[in-house]
Amino acid sequence: MSQHREGKARFEIGEAFYRQTSQVGRDLAVLAARLEKSDRGSLRVLDSMAGCGVRSLRYYLEAEADWIWANEGNPDIKAVLRHNLKPLFDAGRVQLTHSDANRVFFDCYARRDYYDLVDVDSFGAPVPFLNTSLWATRLGGFVYLTSTDGRTATGHAGDQSLRVYAARTRAHPSAHEQGLRLIIGAAQQQAATKGLGVEPVFSLFSGSVYRVMLRLVKRQRLNSQNYGFLGYCHSCGEYRTLSWNDFGRVSPCPQDGTPWVVSGPMWLGALHDTAYLKRMRSLAESWGWTKRVKLLEIMEEEAELPPYFYKLGILGKRSNGDIPPRDKLIRGLRHFGYRTGRTHLDSQAIKTEASLETCVSLVIDRSSVGTSET
Ligand SMILES: C[S@@+](CC[C@H](N)C(=O)[O-])C[C@H]1O[C@@H](n2cnc3c(N)ncnc32)[C@H](O)[C@@H]1O
Ligand SMILES: [Zn+2]
Repeated sequence: MSQHREGKARFEIGEAFYRQTSQVGRDLAVLAARLEKSDRGSLRVLDSMAGCGVRSLRYYLEAEADWIWANEGNPDIKAVLRHNLKPLFDAGRVQLTHSDANRVFFDCYARRDYYDLVDVDSFGAPVPFLNTSLWATRLGGFVYLTSTDGRTATGHAGDQSLRVYAARTRAHPSAHEQGLRLIIGAAQQQAATKGLGVEPVFSLFSGSVYRVMLRLVKRQRLNSQNYGFLGYCHSCGEYRTLSWNDFGRVSPCPQDGTPWVVSGPMWLGALHDTAYLKRMRSLAESWGWTKRVKLLEIMEEEAELPPYFYKLGILGKRSNGDIPPRDKLIRGLRHFGYRTGRTHLDSQAIKTEASLETCVSLVIDRSSVGTSET
């Protein structure tokens, strides 16, 4: 079998699942986990769907986890997992099981054995594990959720979003962000059923996979401001947020009178914990992870901006001109006092608190932002 490398991990894949393009999600998790280890002095990780074990290896070798429970539902890949996790077995730092993840979560709860980081790398939507993974998570610890179900998240699966998230999803240009916000919102609501809350540490969309790292906190966090709806105007491309109190008194799009197409409920609060991202970025810098440093910089910019973005192509089309240069447009909007930034979800888009009309008029006023030809 051929040897693969990722970070400090050396492993074989055999019949196990491994996707190289998901490395970015593992890298960010390792950074966050390493900081937790520094802050707490110890780190216990539950890798509930271990696949070939690359995560367990990296949490041990790079985040310096003290103890790892690696679980993988498919017993047929036991041999390759045992082989890959040999450094952890040699150090007496791991237990390996082949059980359904939900059994593992409830086993943790039954024995009051809570983990600092519970990694749930599931296929499809994460809903079968949203509530249950919290039962295995230490208060103050992290749960790292996954969705690979882009169709439901982006409004292309009809009523499936109602069944899965108890939310309506619609197709629009920033629908991948909606995918992240649906998971956070659903997890927030599930935490609330336990009298708890979750706080996003970071949210990542990469290579068609949605990942959210959440901190489980004692304080209830869900309220009618941060858990609500997103309206999109199919005529002009404008967005607005809608709260539960807006029902029955929402006026249509002010530009063209078109009724808003509404998605939600979903999380409307911050996508990331900016202070934590900064610390992750410093650590990434010290490890020489240049690509991750750049990604984290962008994530810091978008963290607290409105829950949608405008694509540059749409701004160009609306202004009957070329696609405006992103960074110049961002500088122009900031110059006029609008909080504006890049987004990791789309390199050809901006996030801003300015209206679409304001962006369009700035693009038309080429002296402010120029065009791609200037
Ligand atoms: C996306 S892969 C994991 C990949 C791995 N974590 C990585 O980073 O390369 C999902 C794994 O979870 C396992 N799995 C799926 N459903 C499960 C469940 N309910 N309980 C435990 N394992 C499960 C699958 O056999 C598969 O190996
Ligand atoms: Zn409109």
